Amino acid sequence: MASLSIDQQARAAKAYILQELQKTEDGAQILKDKDFFGRLDMNFITIFAIFAELYGYRHDCLDQLVDLITMCGKSWRQRDPELQKLDKQRELDPEWYLSNQMLGGVCYVDRYAKDLSGIKDRIPYFQELGLTYLHLMPLFKAPQPLNDGGYAVSSYREVQEQLGDINQLKELATELRKAGISLVLDLVFNHTSNEHRWAKKAAEGDPEHSAMYWIFPDRNVPSAFERTTREIFPDDHPGSFIQLADGRFVWSTFYHFQWDLNYSNPTVFRAMAAEMLYLANVGVDFFRMDAVAFMWKQMNTDCENLPEVHKLLRAFNALCRIAAPSVLFKSEAIVHPDFVVQYIDRYECQLSYNPLQMALTWEALATRDTSMLSQAIERRHNIARGCAWVNYVRSHDDIGWTFSDEDAAELGKNGINHRKFLNAFFVNRHPGSFARGVPFQDNPRTGDCRISGTTASLAGLESMQDHAIDRILLAYSIAMSTGGIPLIYLGDEVGQLNDYSYLHDAAKMDDSRWVNRPWYPESRYSERHDPSTIPGQIYAGMKRLIQLRKSTDELAGGRAVGFFTGNPAILGYQRPGGGSTVLCLCNFSDAPQWIGRDRFMGMPVEARDLASGYMVNLRDAGVQLRPHQYLWLRY
Ligand code: GLC
Repeated sequence: MASLSIDQQARAAKAYILQELQKTEDGAQILKDKDFFGRLDMNFITIFAIFAELYGYRHDCLDQLVDLITMCGKSWRQRDPELQKLDKQRELDPEWYLSNQMLGGVCYVDRYAKDLSGIKDRIPYFQELGLTYLHLMPLFKAPQPLNDGGYAVSSYREVQEQLGDINQLKELATELRKAGISLVLDLVFNHTSNEHRWAKKAAEGDPEHSAMYWIFPDRNVPSAFERTTREIFPDDHPGSFIQLADGRFVWSTFYHFQWDLNYSNPTVFRAMAAEMLYLANVGVDFFRMDAVAFMWKQMNTDCENLPEVHKLLRAFNALCRIAAPSVLFKSEAIVHPDFVVQYIDRYECQLSYNPLQMALTWEALATRDTSMLSQAIERRHNIARGCAWVNYVRSHDDIGWTFSDEDAAELGKNGINHRKFLNAFFVNRHPGSFARGVPFQDNPRTGDCRISGTTASLAGLESMQDHAIDRILLAYSIAMSTGGIPLIYLGDEVGQLNDYSYLHDAAKMDDSRWVNRPWYPESRYSERHDPSTIPGQIYAGMKRLIQLRKSTDELAGGRAVGFFTGNPAILGYQRPGGGSTVLCLCNFSDAPQWIGRDRFMGMPVEARDLASGYMVNLRDAGVQLRPHQYLWLRY
């Protein structure tokens, strides 16, 4: 085989697989399905090449592939005709998610609506808000009470009892679809909980299941790995390994009850592929690929963002193209921007969180200087065609200052000192700070620290400072207009504040991210239509932004072009589209700011501000913005 080209090898492998499939009844049925077969034809080579590269050293590599393709075929045959219809529809409109009608929301099921039927009851509200995408945080069976907010999964096929069951999840997916809302669920790929069936068997010493994790008999290999790996949750345990009851050591990047899966074993790949396709058939539209950076380990590296991770994701993507073609991936890589972008590709993850823009929006709010954010939009915003950022203001996690030190240095900022300043500012240890954040994983040994807090508390609403509402709206105006899918952490639209009750819960008190995962703010929502209240003012501002986004066609797609305002307090970027352009200007200062008329020389004399509806003269005296005002000028 070694002298054959990869094409020839793939052809030979496919012939072998087809021959094997013919031998079983299921296999023969799969081969009769023309749609499936066509897609298999298109994508087989991707899967084959990756399999050959990652697992070719194994004598059973081809048989593993036969099993994988059979599983894929069965999964397609079991796919609901409604979902198959959607597959076809989206095949005809492959860039449907780049529309400016797209608007995302994210919440925890229990915290936002008690259970799955509660979420169903909130569909009318989601429609009122204009959501087309709903990310429900992990809702799978998990250890209790410690489960890292659900990110320690004990079964990908069972829903946490108190939230409902898998049939309710299926029903909810159908209801959401009818309401024009896509369902987004996490695929927690990197690890399972220590209570997952595979993990329990591994802990009992079963060799096959032990081989699904990174388990070593003593500290030798773990210590060698730890020479180059980073501590992710140092408050929980130092290093990357924890010790099992029988004395062995298991890789555990995050909490000690989350054990990293060993993808160098093809059994793990197949097992997780089966879980993914199962969930695709439940009706998931987007998978949020959790903690992807850590999926492959290699001695003498930091074991983050290794090239094999991309291969794994591409192989999983190709499987979806074959068996659940409308399903898309969103990568959750909260890492250096050079690495974030490597996950974004039609053949890998079509969507990605935009952690840099998120963090720099807060950076600019603190410094009242938009140069870093502006540099990021100019330099790091435009991504592969057909792909989209998911732009958010905050998530259920902490905010990490993931900007590039080199980018910062070009602007005369020392990355380390600047992060120190930002951490101090956002936890209110800096004079004049408006923010009320809480440190997360403060590691005095490495100087690393991140910030927890809700949008409203970080923006100054909790400290009752001026401009808080305008800061919230300014931050969301950027998420709504830079390109891609804006994502609202539900509750932010009514100004939900930090929730300190986690400090009284032993299972949560050591994880400050719970401060920004509050319960459904009933009273705030009930005031949302009352303009005399704070929630009412925030809600009205958010609704206005959403309506503007949806009626501004230039905001579809993802391309943004920088605009140098000449005033560091004012951020500028342009969204060209179909013969016209929208120039977005955002004042981050607490005082009025101007842009000189020379900045608008190549432009028409007047442009309409879509936000206020007024014409703005660009030539007379330049443009003035009120504190924290945003203008969307169409020309
Ligand atoms: C992701 C999740 C985070 C979780 C981690 C481990 O980063 O967003 O909440 O702790 O993965 O699964």
